[in-house]
Order: sequence, then structure tokens, then C-alpha cells
Amino acid sequence: MYNAKAYAVASATSPFASTRIARRDPTEHDVQIQILFCGICHTDLHIARAEWSDVMPTAYPCVPGHEIVGRVTKVGSKVAKFKPGDLAAVGCLVDSDGTCPQCKAGLEQYCPNLILTYNSPDKHLGGVTYGGYSDSIVVDERFVLRVPSNLNLAGTAPLLCAGITTYSPMRHWGVTKGKKVGVVGLGGLGHMGVKFAHALGAHVVVFTTSPNKKEDALRLGADEVVVSRNADEIQKHAASFDFILDAVPADHDINAYIMLLRRDGNITLVGAPAKPLAVAAFGLLFGRRSLSGSLIGGIAETQEMLDFCGAHNITSDVEVIPIQKVNEAYERMLKSDVKYRFSIDLASLKSE
Ligand SMILES: NC(=O)c1ccc[n+]([C@@H]2O[C@H](COP(=O)([O-])OP(=O)(O)OC[C@H]3O[C@@H](n4cnc5c(N)ncnc54)[C@H](OP(=O)(O)O)[C@@H]3O)[C@@H](O)[C@H]2O)c1
Ligand SMILES: [Zn+2]
Ligand SMILES: [Zn+2]
Repeated sequence: MYNAKAYAVASATSPFASTRIARRDPTEHDVQIQILFCGICHTDLHIARAEWSDVMPTAYPCVPGHEIVGRVTKVGSKVAKFKPGDLAAVGCLVDSDGTCPQCKAGLEQYCPNLILTYNSPDKHLGGVTYGGYSDSIVVDERFVLRVPSNLNLAGTAPLLCAGITTYSPMRHWGVTKGKKVGVVGLGGLGHMGVKFAHALGAHVVVFTTSPNKKEDALRLGADEVVVSRNADEIQKHAASFDFILDAVPADHDINAYIMLLRRDGNITLVGAPAKPLAVAAFGLLFGRRSLSGSLIGGIAETQEMLDFCGAHNITSDVEVIPIQKVNEAYERMLKSDVKYRFSIDLASLKSE
């Protein structure tokens, strides 16, 4: 066991503060990683502030962070995929049972015995797992990803959650050339959704509450942008979408978007508002439309997504911050004031 530097919250209402956490010494299948960058996901905020306490209570102290990119410092004797000095990445998962039907299908994210990167039981040290707002992490090599060498590292970190969470449902629902795809909410997830839908050849329409993001949306790959506060503008797209990705973290009218789907169209929720959304049955009945959800992605698909990003030169648009600015960053994220993901430079922990 050794001590790592980290930033943690002590309660749902405390600000982040510098601390030390215990990490295990790498066992034979483990990879120890010096964390270089960690993205700030809106999930980090939901969990740090115990907003999902009905479904997923938060254990304190809580060290969030599941968009991790770094360099391997040490490997266990049986590790085959990595050696010290390699780039490596870790997303939302650090373990699963490996034996259930979900794991066997490569869908570890749906494993009933899934261990999340933070706020899950830590079978090695007891207590809970601690995430990437830290200078190092130790992870079983099965859950460590290879990083394409051509990508900017600060912009690669968010691919590990925002990237895979938007890539996976688009692949599942067949987003390809000729399809009309909507993305609701141009935040961390949404802007990656736009990049992927565009790269997959779809006609992409962004729905945003922020008129000032219009030009960015077009630059990111959107073909059209609709300011969603204007109901008439939304209506112009009635019954025309094959697929809509909804990445909104707060309460909103999802029925307006269901009505935009064509027959057999699908809207997938990736955003996770704390309170239930009201869904009118009729929108789904007429047109046999479907509403579904999607959780991150499995390990194999996460590697596929990273390789896809390497091949298409896709990274997240990031604002790099030192860890000391994390409290301010959370307030700005709540105001949709980030273009389009904060990426923490963990070199800033050295001074703590
Ligand atoms: N399913 C999964 O596996 C998974 C993975 C990661 C994250 N998530 C969840 O996905 C959600 C989004 O995460 P994120 O990191 O992308 O968040 P984010 O960066 O804060 O982006 C959310 C965007 O949604 C829009 N928005 C915010 N409040 C809104 C409101 N009240 N009404 C309508 N639109 C609103 C804003 O875009 P505009 O300014 O364009 O309107 C905002 O930029 C969170 O709930 C997060 O927990 C789920
Ligand atoms: Zn996330
Ligand atoms: Zn399993």
C-alpha cells in the first residue's frame, strides 16, 4: 500500500480539498499509472453532491474522476499488454465478475458485479474505490486501455466516458451515412456525440438551450442547429429523425423530442437527471417509436472507440485546468459554461 495525492469532497456540501489516499501496490495482474489528465464529467458532480443518493449513495470522502489518461509506472509479473513508459487509459470501470452473460458478451458495464472507478466497494483495500482526481491509480490490466499515439492527451481523457457513452449507442442503433441524428445538449457528452455522428456520416442536428453555441456546433460537425427554447423551431423537424441522443443532466420535456422521431425511430437517454422524466405514452405509440437508455460501453468497444478516434483524429475540445480550480469548474459546468470539457492537468498536484 502507498499514499497517493488526491482531491476529495468530505460531504455533499463540502468543496474539494487536497488529501492523501491509499492505493494498493500492484498485484501480478495490475498496472500502476501516473495520471496525466482526468476529465470532469457531470456524473462526478452528481455523485460528489449525492444527487443520485436514491439509486447510488455516495461514500465520503469521495474522489471522483473516470476519464483518465496517464503513463504506466509499474506492472505486475503477469501483465502482458503494458510495460512501464506506455501510455494508458482508464474509464468508468475497474473490475467485473468476468463470468456473467454480460461480461461474456463484452458488455461489462451491465455486469451485476461491476466495480466502478470510484464510489464502488474496493475489494483490495476495503472502503470504496477512488477515481482520477489523483496523481496515480492501480488497475487490473483487463480494464486498462491503449491510447493511440497521435492524439492530444488532455483531449483524449474525456473519450473514456463522454466518448464511449456517445459512441456506443450510436453504433448500437445503427448511425450511418444517410441517417438523420439529433443530439440534445451540447456539453461534454453532446459535443462528442456530434463528432461521432458526423464521422459516421449522418446528418446531424444539435438541440441546444444556448444560442451562443450555434457556431461551435457547426464547427464540431453539426449540419443544423436548433435553439431548443423555441418550440416552433423544434416542430419543423417533426417525425424526421432516425435517432436522437439525449444528454441533458436535468429535467426537460422529452416528449417534444419523441415527436421528432420517424416511424421506428429511437431516442436514447444518456443524460441522467436525478428526478424521473414525464413521458407521454402517445408519442411512443404513434409511430412505434422507442425510448431507451445506454450506459457507457464495454472494454472492447471502448478500445474500438479509441482506435476510431486515432484513425479519425478525434479528441474532445477541452479547457485544461489545474486541480486547484476544480470547485470553480463545477460551478461553471452547471452554467453550461465549458467548451466542452474540463480536463485536469494532474501535474498541478505536485505542489500539494
Ligand atoms: N449514460 C451514461 O453512461 C453516462 C455517462 C456519462 C455521463 N452521463 C450523464 O449525462 C449527463 C450529461 O453529462 P455531461 O458531462 O455531458 O454534462 P455537461 O457537460 O454539463 O453537459 C450537459 C449539457 O446539457 C444541456 N443542459 C444543461 N442543463 C439543461 C437543462 N436544464 N435543460 C436542457 N438542457 C440542459 C447543456 O447544453 P446546451 O447548453 O447545449 O443546452 C449542457 O451543456 C449527466 O447527467 C451525466 O451524469 C451518463
Ligand atoms: Zn462520466
Ligand atoms: Zn459480469
